[in-house]
Amino acid sequence: MSPSKSNVRTYLCASHSLKQGGIGVRFKVHAGGEVLPAFVVRHRDGVAAFINRCGHRDLELDWSPGEFFDLESRWLICATHGAHYDPKTGACQSGPCNGVGLTVLAIIEEAGGIYLVDTRYPTQSLGIETNP
Ligand code: FES
Repeated sequence: MSPSKSNVRTYLCASHSLKQGGIGVRFKVHAGGEVLPAFVVRHRDGVAAFINRCGHRDLELDWSPGEFFDLESRWLICATHGAHYDPKTGACQSGPCNGVGLTVLAIIEEAGGIYLVDTRYPTQSLGIETNP
């Protein structure tokens, strides 16, 4: 990553707002004229963000806004047909995702905040959704 691109970051949420295996924060990114839903969650080793699009079909995963984890808070699960994904990498673990993982977004956590640092998405067009 070039030095100029490494400075591009957009605040997503406060670190304390994400509990391990708990409710995620939804947001949107714009890319090439398309609006893409996305989310960030905290897993047991840190935080991770993904495009909110199942590998099985072009549907969002959460069964209720921000609810991405299974009952054991171990896997991300798609509400439609039950595909399971690794919350750290987005890799398909089981179910109808058939080996197709989630698209990972680059983020960092520092100084009590979580930031999108993915240069594929212009920061000025990002919208954060608050969870109920
Ligand atoms: S749409 Fe996600 S498992 Fe089918």
